[in-house]
Amino acid sequence: MAERDTYARTYARSTADPEGFWLEAASMVDWDVPPALALESSAAPLYAWFPDGRLNTSYNALDRHVAAGRGDADALIYDSAMLGVQRTYSYRELLAEVETFAGVLRGLGVEAGDRVIIYLPMIPEAVIAMLATARLGAVHSVVFGGFAPRELAARIDDAGPKVIVTASGGVEPKRRVEYLPAVAEALETAGHRVDAVVVAERKGFSSSRADFNGAGGASWQDWAELAAAAEPAGPVSVAAGDPLYILYTSGTTGSPKGVVRDNGSHAVAMAWSMSNIYGVGPGQVMWTASDVGWVVGHSYIVYAPLIAGAATVLYEGKPVGTPDAGAFWRVAAEHGVDVLFTAPTALRAIRKADPDAVEPGRYDLSRLRHLFSAGERLDPATLEWAGAALDVPVFDHWWQTETGWAICANPVGLDELPVKPGSPTVPVPGFTVRILDGAGAEVPPGMEGNIALRLPLPPGTLRTLWGSDERYRNAYLEVFEGYYATGDSGYLDEDGYLYVMGRTDDVINVSGHRLSTGAMEEAVGSHPAVAECAVIGVADPLKGQRPCAYVVLKSGAETDAAQLQRELVERVRSRIGAVADFKDVQVVDALPKTRSGKVLRKTMRQIADGVPHTVPSTIEDPAVIEALTPLLRPGGSRG
Ligand code: COA
Ligand code: AMP
Repeated sequence: MAERDTYARTYARSTADPEGFWLEAASMVDWDVPPALALESSAAPLYAWFPDGRLNTSYNALDRHVAAGRGDADALIYDSAMLGVQRTYSYRELLAEVETFAGVLRGLGVEAGDRVIIYLPMIPEAVIAMLATARLGAVHSVVFGGFAPRELAARIDDAGPKVIVTASGGVEPKRRVEYLPAVAEALETAGHRVDAVVVAERKGFSSSRADFNGAGGASWQDWAELAAAAEPAGPVSVAAGDPLYILYTSGTTGSPKGVVRDNGSHAVAMAWSMSNIYGVGPGQVMWTASDVGWVVGHSYIVYAPLIAGAATVLYEGKPVGTPDAGAFWRVAAEHGVDVLFTAPTALRAIRKADPDAVEPGRYDLSRLRHLFSAGERLDPATLEWAGAALDVPVFDHWWQTETGWAICANPVGLDELPVKPGSPTVPVPGFTVRILDGAGAEVPPGMEGNIALRLPLPPGTLRTLWGSDERYRNAYLEVFEGYYATGDSGYLDEDGYLYVMGRTDDVINVSGHRLSTGAMEEAVGSHPAVAECAVIGVADPLKGQRPCAYVVLKSGAETDAAQLQRELVERVRSRIGAVADFKDVQVVDALPKTRSGKVLRKTMRQIADGVPHTVPSTIEDPAVIEALTPLLRPGGSRG
């Protein structure tokens, strides 16, 4: 097993001498001041990598490749299946766009450390705005376009941005999404005052910036007009530990958590992961079919491929229906994609539409080497289908917004390890994965428990939560002393392969999108007829999970069930966004609770998923769960 040894040796080095290992890896990026010290531990458990290093992330993603004579190489390949448009930017062209837009932001008063919210569809401006913000040493926070104004407002209030960058709209298969009214509403709702909104005009939208001038006290500016007059801005040197971005993710409560990523250790982790996990470098093409609004998009649409000097594909489209189930294979063939990264839900959607895998045969996929999947567990049936359809190895890998890159993967840049369906393979060098029981003791192989990562986490993982070290400590670091608690449960087998079984909290995963049932309960519970409610995620053959609400009405509430459902669906859409895909509502007499009043969501979920369930001895009234069971069971009268 000489090959496997490479992974084993690398992993052993990363745990025996993490500081030496990562200091060596730090040479993969260009520093203004190279770090002499690997890790600052004085504020443990809040660690900081490369404390004395200085660099600029956008320089590493762009300028250094141009300086090395690769200015004409492809950097960004935009392919819009929605509009039938394609455009490729070389490194030189992308750098020119980024330095110009950095000049625009500087002209609007953005300086190092200031925040910029980016609320854009999958268009090149999204990548340009991210890199331009980073160029100034400012901090971006990208908000996924499928989120409603209230969610945008919550992020505005938490991040306190000087500027918002947006576009007139996004194109969804069934409709055009007007962004500007949503931004205006968010600005009016938010307590924080934003100085300026920069709008990239797209044709075909009814609202224009002129309609909103002054909304929330912000000035509305046109991207193209400002860019025409802007002075290009050079890269601003920042400390490695300075924040590069804030990315909000769902926790158990309705208030999102702002994951903070630093500049220096992030750049190192991105560079290291491209060659060692994905095996992709200059001259190759990586396509991550996600959205820049999610961590997968931050890391593997934008930063990692560009830092590595590869080309990256930005795809505005869906896996099916734009126009057909061959869309992914068309893009992979036309752009010579070497490595494709997508979510299981996208593969399941394609498989449903093209079960016999006729579409891949219509395209030349000879360059495609590997398919990576993340976002939720890759079920063995989909893994097998995709492997046979594409005739390439298919790898699941497991990670989170918080970690920023894979915790467990098949690191094909090191060795291609045997695939065990249902497992995202083995811990990536830098991550020490342990399975702990509720008291924090390690459990033997094969036994399920809480998945925890020993501290310090490697470079590229979260520094803290924006504005609250305390919340970071409480939510992640104080659950098991000396560990980061992932919130996932699972087990390790005898060979050290991990199996991730699901969340231990009330976070759900709909089409690979992480959502909080707590936030949905807040929206449902605000309806005047609703006394109380529980929203749980139940297994869905296409989307992985889908949210289902169980609602107890106020006594005397006169409500037609269909009408109530429509109103609740509308409430969740307008407060959280269409992306929650909230449709199922069931009126029940009572919710099962413990004697202390905690709703037994886990038991409800187990019954709904048809898996063995446990009813805690602390249940208040066992008759409630008995009455609810027929409604919860798969095929029960849910919508
Ligand atoms: N902006 C605005 N609205 C958006 C949006 C965006 N960026 N993305 C999704 N939505 C809306 C959709 O228009 C839809 O609205 P509707 O209810 O009015 O039709 C709703 O959110 C749900 O959309 P979607 O999640 O795309 O579900 P779908 O049933 O239309 O399509 C899939 C199913 C599986 C094809 C689709 O979910 C998909 O492509 N999933 C892959 C997602 C992914 O890559 N996740 C991984 C992140 S790592
Ligand atoms: P997000 O932060 O949106 O990336 O979601 C992270 C969560 O999604 C993880 O904590 C897991 O619950 C789930 N997840 C992501 N990838 C996988 C995977 N490959 N296998 C199992 N669960 C996954």
